[in-house]
Amino acid sequence: MTFLVFLFLIFLPSFSHQCPAGWNISTVVQNKCYLIVPEKKDWFSAEYYCQNSAGATGAQLVSICNAFENALIGVLVSNTPAILLNTDQVWIGLDDIGNDGNGEFTWANENDDCSYRHWGPGQPRLGITTECVSSAAKSTGYWSTKSCATPNYFICECSTDSSTISSTSPTAGSTSSTAGSASSTSSTGLSTKTPALPDSNATDCFDIQQQTPFAPSGVYTIHPPNASAPFDVYCDMLTDNGGWTVFQRRFNGSQDFTTQNWTNYENGFGDVGEEHWLGLEKLYWLIEKENLTEMRIDLIDCIGQNVYEAYERFKIGNAVSKYALLQAGGAHGTARDSLAAKPSQIGSKFSTRDQDHDGLPFEPCSETLKGGWWYSRCGNAHLNSVYYPQCNYTGRFPDGITWETLFSDTDGFHHSLAKTKMMIRRVV
Ligand SMILES: *[C@@H]1O[C@H](CO)[C@@H](O)[C@H](O)[C@H]1NC(C)=O
Ligand SMILES: *[C@@H]1O[C@H](CO)[C@@H](O)[C@H](O)[C@H]1NC(C)=O
Ligand SMILES: *[C@@H]1O[C@H](CO)[C@@H](O)[C@H](O)[C@H]1NC(C)=O
Ligand SMILES: *[C@@H]1O[C@H](CO)[C@@H](O)[C@H](O)[C@H]1NC(C)=O
Ligand SMILES: *[C@@H]1O[C@H](CO)[C@@H](O)[C@H](O)[C@H]1NC(C)=O
Ligand SMILES: *[C@@H]1O[C@H](CO)[C@@H](O)[C@H](O)[C@H]1NC(C)=O
Ligand SMILES: *[C@@H]1O[C@H](CO)[C@@H](O)[C@H](O)[C@H]1NC(C)=O
Repeated sequence: MTFLVFLFLIFLPSFSHQCPAGWNISTVVQNKCYLIVPEKKDWFSAEYYCQNSAGATGAQLVSICNAFENALIGVLVSNTPAILLNTDQVWIGLDDIGNDGNGEFTWANENDDCSYRHWGPGQPRLGITTECVSSAAKSTGYWSTKSCATPNYFICECSTDSSTISSTSPTAGSTSSTAGSASSTSSTGLSTKTPALPDSNATDCFDIQQQTPFAPSGVYTIHPPNASAPFDVYCDMLTDNGGWTVFQRRFNGSQDFTTQNWTNYENGFGDVGEEHWLGLEKLYWLIEKENLTEMRIDLIDCIGQNVYEAYERFKIGNAVSKYALLQAGGAHGTARDSLAAKPSQIGSKFSTRDQDHDGLPFEPCSETLKGGWWYSRCGNAHLNSVYYPQCNYTGRFPDGITWETLFSDTDGFHHSLAKTKMMIRRVV
């Protein structure tokens, strides 16, 4: 057995010169390499083994920072034949040692302060301070606590040589905004709803509210400077004093978001009075005309709980930069900040199923999680993914409408949201 394992590790086809021989490069987390070790050790010996792996400086037991990383590690473990079917528990680098039984678990790699948790039902066991965390990576992906002395298979992680990875890293946060001419040639076939007010010179919903203080929420025509043509938008005139220009709205799954291509995400799709995506080009011109734009996301789950996250500064780049998410700063609210949660999506280009800019060599996030978004190494937010009417769903990948800082997946399900609204307002 040991001999076979040895052979397996040595003769792994190495498609990467970036990771030590026999290690898999992470397709989710930048610069990360994984080693699935099909050899049982107690948690401390496993950590020692990782730390002393030849050629892997700084290696430790793995930290897992989001559901997508968790799922892909599951795929890796499943592809490791030496781990037998009914013993798929593998140690990961999380323990409660030294935490006085207060229910806190900390990562062995202190640099990875990941908030993501994927406890199995009834987990973790609290009140004991010698509990370590394993994942049923091969089957359910759920985590459980057990005595650190239990022998288990395990997963190590280390970093790639950072000098070789830069070519695949996402764009940096700062991009100069070359004021490109509006490249789209026509306005899209958005619905022609009768505006509640006659067409005005309004450049956004804030203007409409200034001009008509008690204007109700609804569809209005606006004309931001430099946009190719006037277009309709849904204005939210109620939330937090109103004046918001809505750029994404979902509430019953009637509009498909998951098969739309780049052109559709750029120009917009759906009916602005119903479920829709306004379009990246329009969003860009709405932001570009101002010095400062705020953004707000409202989310409602299947049992009607309403949460929001507001960003004091929001900015995307132009078409040339692939509408990169340049700023989403000053977050506050009740949903917590999934955009910035590791691996942060800030700085990421927009990706769709036909235009992948997530910087991952394999498994484009827009394919696996579906729906266009500012995917980083996927990341923790993706509100254009599959609409699951029951909210709860199972499956290897969290391809529902996801805002991961809201849920910890402790009940055997991934969680999708029932209603979403994304909107912007200029700051005066
Ligand atoms: C990881 O390595 C194994 C063994 O070489 C390989 O079969 C598998 O495809 C790799 N997985 C990924 C995601 O690269
Ligand atoms: C819009 O039109 C109103 C009158 O119709 C005018 O008072 C206002 O200055 C105009 N605003 C802009 C930005 O042109
Ligand atoms: C979604 O809502 C719209 C309008 O509110 C309605 O026309 C449509 O039938 C609904 N679709 C579903 C699937 O409930
Ligand atoms: C995108 O999809 C639309 C239909 O929704 C289609 O007309 C168009 O040709 C597609 N564009 C590309 C580049 O595939
Ligand atoms: C609109 O285009 C003009 C002419 O190219 C340019 O001077 C101006 O800065 C642009 N406005 C915005 C908001 O980009
Ligand atoms: C942006 O800021 C500059 C400098 O403070 C100011 O002159 C300009 O009017 C502002 N533009 C807008 C659209 O608020
Ligand atoms: C998901 O399912 C669990 C278990 O059946 C249930 O407790 C929970 O309320 C459900 N959540 C939603 C949002 O439906």
